[in-house]
Amino acid sequence: MRNEIVHPGAGELTYEIRNIVNVAEKLQKHGVRINWENIGDPIVKGEVIPAWMKEIVVKEVLDNDTWGYCHTRGVLETREFICDMTNRRGGARITPDDIIFFNGLGDAIAKIYGSLRAETRVLMPSPTYTTHSIGEAGHAHAAPVCYRLKAEDNWYPDLDDLRNHVKYNPSISAIMIINPDNPTGMVYPVETLREIVAIAKEYDLFIVADEVYNNIVYNGEKTVPISDVIGDVPAIALKGISKEFPWPGSRCGWIEVYNYGRDEQFAKYVNSILSSKMNEVCSTTLPQKSIPAIMSHPEYQIYLAERVTRYERMSNITYNCLKEVPGLLLNRTNGAFYMAVTFGEGLLSSRQSLPIANPEVRELVEGLVNAPGVSPDKRFVYYILAHTGICTVPLSSFNTPLQGFRVTLLEKDEQECERIYRTLAEKIGEYLRS
Ligand SMILES: Cc1ncc(COP(=O)(O)O)c(C=O)c1O
Repeated sequence: MRNEIVHPGAGELTYEIRNIVNVAEKLQKHGVRINWENIGDPIVKGEVIPAWMKEIVVKEVLDNDTWGYCHTRGVLETREFICDMTNRRGGARITPDDIIFFNGLGDAIAKIYGSLRAETRVLMPSPTYTTHSIGEAGHAHAAPVCYRLKAEDNWYPDLDDLRNHVKYNPSISAIMIINPDNPTGMVYPVETLREIVAIAKEYDLFIVADEVYNNIVYNGEKTVPISDVIGDVPAIALKGISKEFPWPGSRCGWIEVYNYGRDEQFAKYVNSILSSKMNEVCSTTLPQKSIPAIMSHPEYQIYLAERVTRYERMSNITYNCLKEVPGLLLNRTNGAFYMAVTFGEGLLSSRQSLPIANPEVRELVEGLVNAPGVSPDKRFVYYILAHTGICTVPLSSFNTPLQGFRVTLLEKDEQECERIYRTLAEKIGEYLRS
């Protein structure tokens, strides 16, 4: 090329959640049997969609209208249906025009950050789901600005840290939360949500609340969407069907905009998000058309409750196995289907390893872990993968300096879950002693 055509730093922000899959697939070719404890796709983990749900989608496919473009904001009847659900809670009031559909929340997230002026920043939790932090950092061409989630206290946000960032960094225009959270499984207490809304109000900010897991809560927790406590603060909530139906392959999610008209800048910003969707005409029609019939089907809540109960059981099995390992810091999860585990300070080193019998696999892993700049938790994750076949994700790839790993809670078989996490607990001990 006669010019440099990529941003400075392009390629440095890699998506480790996917990278680890490439490595695991290579190991699979060498005969290693993989337990995929890394990926948040219930379908890949064996979730079988009930016949009644499939029948609704089939019926929609047979309707000719489903084959056309829809309104840029999304199918009107579906927006009316969603609008009604939100308004019935009695918090924020919206109209169908406050809803915009996207091709998955990945699409929404890209447009939410991509529509901001480069100098303005959105304060991110750390650790966090990297689609947000990479999207935000990409728009600003700078490292993410983060508030801390406390590994030592249920992964609750450090509100002093959050407030100080807002106070001393005038470029911050919004606060992002993920509730329930990926990668920690933490559910924001309602008082914490109220406090974050109060900080946003005091400093004239808006809130971005990713609520894709909002109906996946357990251990007695309740769902508190941001719309319940938002008052008159401008906000965008992100919701979708990838995790809830679950239909991640539908690429269908939406945003709900609260208090659109209360701030001129915010209204302009939301309009620019809508314009970028307009450039693409609209999002895929079929999944949107299926939403009202699926969500109002008599089996829907029963099916969802069964799955959530299963995640609760898997979470507690995972927690009970890993809590026995000295040096690990972990919290019970109350929502979503992830658990983030950290190692005590200084426990990981660049000398630790586990035996790998297959010489080709050993060579592959040693090449990867001895490359320059490999974090100690990535080294740990690769050795565990090659030695046991258990595929996890290094915690440091979730926008955090903390060292640890993230697992998903999507195993369907309790005995297998117990076996995997007993093995992991034992092997972590061996790795730390090596
Ligand atoms: C917090 C969070 N938001 C959004 C998404 C992506 O959702 P979608 O499939 O709608 O792009 C994920 C996927 O893992 C997620 O964990």
